Amino acid sequence: MVSRVIPVDDFDLVIFGGTGDLARRKIIPGLYRRFLAGQMPEKARIIGAARGEMDDAGYRKLITDALNEFVPASKRDATTIEDFVAQAHYTPIDAMGDAGWKDLAALMRPDVIRAFYFSVGPRLFGPLAERLHDHKIADDDSRIVVEKPFGRDLESARALNKVLASSFDEHQIYRIDHYLGKETVQNLMAVRFGNILFEPLWNAQYVDHIQITVAETVGVGGRGGYYDKSGAMRDMIQNHLMQLLCLIAMEPPSHFDPDAVRDEKLKVIRALDPVERDEIVRGQYRADDGSPSYIEDSENPKSTTESFIAMRVHVSNWRWKGTPIYLRTGKKLRARASEIAVVFKDPPHSIFGPQEGRRGNVLVIRLQPDEGMNLRVTIKEPGPGGMRLIEVPLDMSFAEALGEEGADIPDAYERLIMDVIRGNQTLFMRGDEVEAAWAWTDPIIAAWEERGDKPKPYDAGSSGPEDALMLLHKDGRRWREIK
Ligand code: BG6
Repeated sequence: MVSRVIPVDDFDLVIFGGTGDLARRKIIPGLYRRFLAGQMPEKARIIGAARGEMDDAGYRKLITDALNEFVPASKRDATTIEDFVAQAHYTPIDAMGDAGWKDLAALMRPDVIRAFYFSVGPRLFGPLAERLHDHKIADDDSRIVVEKPFGRDLESARALNKVLASSFDEHQIYRIDHYLGKETVQNLMAVRFGNILFEPLWNAQYVDHIQITVAETVGVGGRGGYYDKSGAMRDMIQNHLMQLLCLIAMEPPSHFDPDAVRDEKLKVIRALDPVERDEIVRGQYRADDGSPSYIEDSENPKSTTESFIAMRVHVSNWRWKGTPIYLRTGKKLRARASEIAVVFKDPPHSIFGPQEGRRGNVLVIRLQPDEGMNLRVTIKEPGPGGMRLIEVPLDMSFAEALGEEGADIPDAYERLIMDVIRGNQTLFMRGDEVEAAWAWTDPIIAAWEERGDKPKPYDAGSSGPEDALMLLHKDGRRWREIK
């Protein structure tokens, strides 16, 4: 299958924080892969902007090194990298002061799309937006891209929205949640709304429950300072898992256009019930065989921050009333495995008599690794031994099903950056969505703080604390294995 590349218009993309970790790991490699695919216009420019003094040659060297480090060898070749970095420039800038802004203004080309990527800490979002506006570097068609964390509670998110709104319209603001750029996450919408098969069953009448798991094997070492002030609730649940929950639970939008999709997502967030104390389990990983504990990684001996969360969530609307959605995410777990599992109810009556241990239909959407889908169906066990039933997977690995194209699944960032250039906000969070998500998480966090709750310890390499298993057991269900 040949990949279709739809060209984008010419652009100047300024990356504030252009020498930082995210730029080197994700943004630049993402752009390189689009260049490789033939999607980056010949004259398009990447302009790194950061505090340090550097010339174009220095920046080109820096991004060449980043590509060598973060792009797999099979995708690299010296000439392509040289051609790519020739489209990069650098300009020093003081985000909080005046230095560099005139130079940046002079550098920008007229009549091409201008996009500004704020790959910096949130405290710089406001000053950058203001300066772009005041120096008339941004026009009505310019876009800004802001990274998470978008606030740490409702109040700070509102303040951020306000400050950005004083210089940019909502249609110019691209709030990144990189989970929305993951190919399989977009596939969720294709599967739900591009097929007739699933949608009629997609409700409380047929779905017993849903499990959303994002399990990681990494700890927080190296970024403990940030993480300790955030924890799994702010770092993962409020954004990534919430977005997955929205896509799985939302009503079909009338069109696949930004506001139609985001309106439906917002309705899901607003329909979430408050979470009761016994519906949530927090965990913190302990030391294991020489690998450091969370306390050591965060360098905060008194930390009560959670590196794991499991919770039961209810969406109170006609479609979902009575179908719990279980969310689970954590660091240092048994495997890196992210999936959404829709567990259907049993048929109303078994014509085959009692079937011990039967487990019914499950649709699993694997986000990573091994992106794909798997539907467990019941069939007759082959052989002459009577009508015995077994479950078999109807398995579809995207890599296998789609051949070369499926094996080369684009990284979330490359898709999202191109959407910014195309001016398509569908996969970006709207201001009201982010605020609604904080409005739901704030009371949960406030309740822990008030009670002085401590997370439950769990072993590195496990599936999280015992209490997380109990959360489902007491409902007569069990978590899918993390593997
Ligand atoms: C980030 C979180 O947003 O997402 C990290 O801050 C987390 O803590 C990461 O590790 C997970 O992303 P991915 O794409 O590796 O699943």
